[in-house]
Amino acid sequence: MHRAAAPGESVSLKRTRMAEDDNRAALRSSLCANFSGLVTTITETHLSGARLSRRGKVRELYDLGASLLLVASDRISAFDVVLSPGIPDKGKILTQLSNFWFRKFSDVDNHLIESDIARFPEELKPDAPMLAGRSVIVRKCEVIPFECVARGYLAGSGWAEYRKTGRVCGIRLPDGLREADKLPEPIFTPATKAETGHDENISFGTMARALPAGEAERLRDMTLSLYKRASDHSASRGLILADTKLEFGRLDGRIVWIDEALTPDSSRYWDMAHYTPGKGQPSFDKQFVRDWLESTGWDKKPPAPKLPEGVVRTTREKYLDAYRKLTDAMPEYLTG
Ligand SMILES: Nc1ncnc2c1ncn2[C@@H]1O[C@H](COP(=O)(O)OP(=O)(O)OP(=O)(O)O)[C@@H](O)[C@H]1O
Ligand SMILES: [Mg+2]
Repeated sequence: MHRAAAPGESVSLKRTRMAEDDNRAALRSSLCANFSGLVTTITETHLSGARLSRRGKVRELYDLGASLLLVASDRISAFDVVLSPGIPDKGKILTQLSNFWFRKFSDVDNHLIESDIARFPEELKPDAPMLAGRSVIVRKCEVIPFECVARGYLAGSGWAEYRKTGRVCGIRLPDGLREADKLPEPIFTPATKAETGHDENISFGTMARALPAGEAERLRDMTLSLYKRASDHSASRGLILADTKLEFGRLDGRIVWIDEALTPDSSRYWDMAHYTPGKGQPSFDKQFVRDWLESTGWDKKPPAPKLPEGVVRTTREKYLDAYRKLTDAMPEYLTG
């Protein structure tokens, strides 16, 4: 069982204990040991003290009654296929980066209730070693079924749409923009939240017609405001926040910021020092994994080729690098 570090106890000692504890948790969870043999990767969880309500592509939701336990696994997907093995510590890095942003912009109502494992309910204690650092207890919200995307630069599906139509989600953009160019001002480009298959970009009007009066406007304003504030912080750390996808829910008549917040899985971060518009930019997300998969000639049908250790290691480094740059700190509870 995990024991919280005593005051004054060194972080590295605490981490060593956690690594040992994680190894014991391996017996209860579906884990793959890899990465120099010491680090464990959590690719699926089975908790004894809570009921699983949903497995997403990356996160698993457990129902705690009025609240939810959100556990980020180390799964990584590309081209809509979950890859093997996972990326050690990815779930911890993404959870703690989300927590950083929720706290930084705490004037915006968010879903966080508890991130400190020591204050989790008693029934979760047996699983504490595995949950530490990668899980949060959140308010259970009614999910608003749209992805709220803000873009300040032309990339990904935005760039693909612009090349065909000169528009993104119905918004007319100036002629002659190149891939990765900065937009005259950030735009709101919503997408459907597809249960299966790919999310689809839609116009603001389509979104507004599907929601109660005034809600789409609220979501747009909140998304653009959070994007601009996060861009300013990122820029001060030498990173360009090219775009981001936010999710919101409803609770007691209020709009609440939910899900993950401004992570490399939900956002494109580029290194300002290497920014060269006119081509795709290296980013801190899974582009590295995608490029490797493309280089193998894989036909994008499952199963995907197994990721080599070097690709796993570099991908983990990229997630860590983004965390370090944005927060000026290291995540807690790393296994390595
Ligand atoms: N506070 C909350 N209340 C209710 N549901 C939430 C809350 N926070 C997050 N969720 C939901 O939990 C799920 C998180 O899982 P995950 O991100 O792995 O799944 P996904 O959305 O299927 O995948 P992807 O993010 O790749 O589209 C999402 O469906 C999200 O909408
Ligand atoms: Mg998600």
